[in-house]
Amino acid sequence: MTRDRGEDVDRAGGQGGVSGQTIGQGGVFGQTAVVWPPWASAPGPNVSRETSEPGAAAATAEEPSAGVGETPLADQVAIDAQRRSRLSGKTFPRPAQTRIITVANQKGGVGKTSTAVNLAAALATNGLRVLLIDIDPQGNASTALGAQHHSEIPSVYEVLLGGRPMIETVQACQDVGDLWCVPATIELAGAEIELVNRPQREFRLHQGLTELRQSLQHAGQPGLDYVIIDCPPSLGLLTLNAFVAAREVLIPIQCEYYALEGLSQLLNTVERIRAALNPELRLSAILLTMYDGRTNLARDVVQEIRTHFSDEALAVTIPRSVKISEAPGFGQSVITYDRNSTGALAYLEAALELAERGGRN
Ligand SMILES: Nc1ncnc2c1ncn2[C@@H]1O[C@H](COP(=O)(O)OP(=O)(O)OP(=O)(O)O)[C@@H](O)[C@H]1O
Ligand SMILES: [Mg+2]
Repeated sequence: MTRDRGEDVDRAGGQGGVSGQTIGQGGVFGQTAVVWPPWASAPGPNVSRETSEPGAAAATAEEPSAGVGETPLADQVAIDAQRRSRLSGKTFPRPAQTRIITVANQKGGVGKTSTAVNLAAALATNGLRVLLIDIDPQGNASTALGAQHHSEIPSVYEVLLGGRPMIETVQACQDVGDLWCVPATIELAGAEIELVNRPQREFRLHQGLTELRQSLQHAGQPGLDYVIIDCPPSLGLLTLNAFVAAREVLIPIQCEYYALEGLSQLLNTVERIRAALNPELRLSAILLTMYDGRTNLARDVVQEIRTHFSDEALAVTIPRSVKISEAPGFGQSVITYDRNSTGALAYLEAALELAERGGRN
């Protein structure tokens, strides 16, 4: 797949990442300079080339006001400008301890991977040290971060089933400094079955991650600020491993008709894991994704979620955005693919909100 998209390319290159290099081998845990706001160094006018519908962008904590209602393009420019001004000058707080967040929803296609990847990139481009663990055999998060994940590559599969130290599987993201990825390969597809008879089968990711963090400490490296785990669309052993390894659960919910179906089962599962396997686990955030403000349905879903989950639901809502869906095709997050786009700004705002709220332990 070509990564060249001409003048649209706007990478945060040169920030210290080396594609395909492991932390252990390459020592790629270097500190990077942070430029904020991220669009400060972007070429050209500060206007989004987003092609999603303007109305779709308008669902944030503070509804945009200035300029909205004139023309669709003017609306879009006004909304993006308001997002930028909310982000401008903000420092993303560094958590006191590593926040380990599992992004889970057994429903397929609700935006788990997009959320995991883009939040990870948003946090990392704001000076935080972030590891994304891909525990979905589809390997979509690995693709989106440009990580190699063909079958010979050391991956989360070897951590779960081969006893391989996680540090040997970590790859640096080439577009974002301070962002690393443990990739998933297709081997992981058999892991659910292979894990069944293994001892400590629910604790294997937890053990691997704990050892990784200890290795960093022993090597005198700074710790990770965030570990984000991208789950498959199921509640099988892989997702269970992610729940046991994490302290927080973030549930992305797509703003559509079936959005709430299966949610109670997911919440019950989290409660059961908390009671039996991981007392630290909490539902810390719900993020509404693929919001289309033109439809009553999307507004109803937002209303419903905010009524039932007033503490957990993030105020920021992610709009439907062509840039968000295009970015993985270039092995990038939307933050690096087009950081001026509405989709990137929405994920930056969501990441800031998540960081400012802190963990809920
Ligand atoms: N905000 C958005 N706007 C437009 N398209 C989006 C948005 N978020 C996600 N998508 C697209 O929707 C599809 C599903 O998204 P994603 O892969 O993030 O969901 P998922 O929950 O991880 O899926 P799976 O359950 O298969 O792992 C992808 O094609 C993605 O590019
Ligand atoms: Mg996914």
